[in-house]
Amino acid sequence: MPQQTVQQHTRLGREFLPGCNLMQLTEKQVAQFKQSLWEHGVICVRKQHLTAPQLKEFAIATFGDSTLGRRPKPIDPEIDLDLQSPGVSILGNPKRHSTDIVGKLAWKWHHDKDHLPKTEGMDMNTLYVVMLYGVEIPPEGIDGKLHTTEFLDMVEAYNNLSREHQQQLEQTSMYHLSPITPQPGSDIPMKLHPIVSTHKVTGQKGLYLGSNTSIKVGMEEKPKEAKLFWQELFETVLESTPVYAHVWQPGDIVFWDNSQVMHAGTPYDANQYKRVALRVGVVDNTST
Ligand SMILES: [Fe+2]
Repeated sequence: MPQQTVQQHTRLGREFLPGCNLMQLTEKQVAQFKQSLWEHGVICVRKQHLTAPQLKEFAIATFGDSTLGRRPKPIDPEIDLDLQSPGVSILGNPKRHSTDIVGKLAWKWHHDKDHLPKTEGMDMNTLYVVMLYGVEIPPEGIDGKLHTTEFLDMVEAYNNLSREHQQQLEQTSMYHLSPITPQPGSDIPMKLHPIVSTHKVTGQKGLYLGSNTSIKVGMEEKPKEAKLFWQELFETVLESTPVYAHVWQPGDIVFWDNSQVMHAGTPYDANQYKRVALRVGVVDNTST
């Protein structure tokens, strides 16, 4: 599959306020931060030293009390207490060098949690902003590559399609399924989402493809056709749209507008290196 990967992108990946301490932003800077996120789709803040409760505190102070997964989990005595907080997921292999990696599914291209029910009044996915804080980062990926998270600008992807293709897709929706339970079934709610969405804040149109488990309306009983439709569309996107790769440094926090970009993690040698990343998802954007 043709794929052009870049580390500098015209829109994605802007560093916000170099040298700042995220916990000490002024009200004006918080407003600028949000503006930058909507404008750039992916932004990063570097050299941060936060605990899990602080990361969540920042999410709530910035976007309102709308973080995902507040079900309290029992404290894991094998993991640093500073990394644990309800609503903050720990990704990677935080306990030991092990191939038992939390979040391996993230190595496939996807929008996060696209199968969740939609929020009333929102055209976009329920999970609006994702924050990923790299606490401990492998110094390299595999096969001589850098350790990165890759992003695709789905607004650019839409704009790169022919007008005819855009119009075709604007008529169509897909069912979005959890990647963990990809088979449609009576007890699995399937969320219907238009393939072309209009962003609530910027008004720009973008493609919203979920993951390769998404099923075009009318293909519910034709899984092979549904997969082929998704793959061909995604290949068209990859052929015309450069992939932006964020090269991780410890202390980076990458924020993305989940409705504007797709992302994919990249593998690393988990027998040799540990990776600890904290993830917070914001499920609403009413405080834009
Ligand atoms: Fe993800």
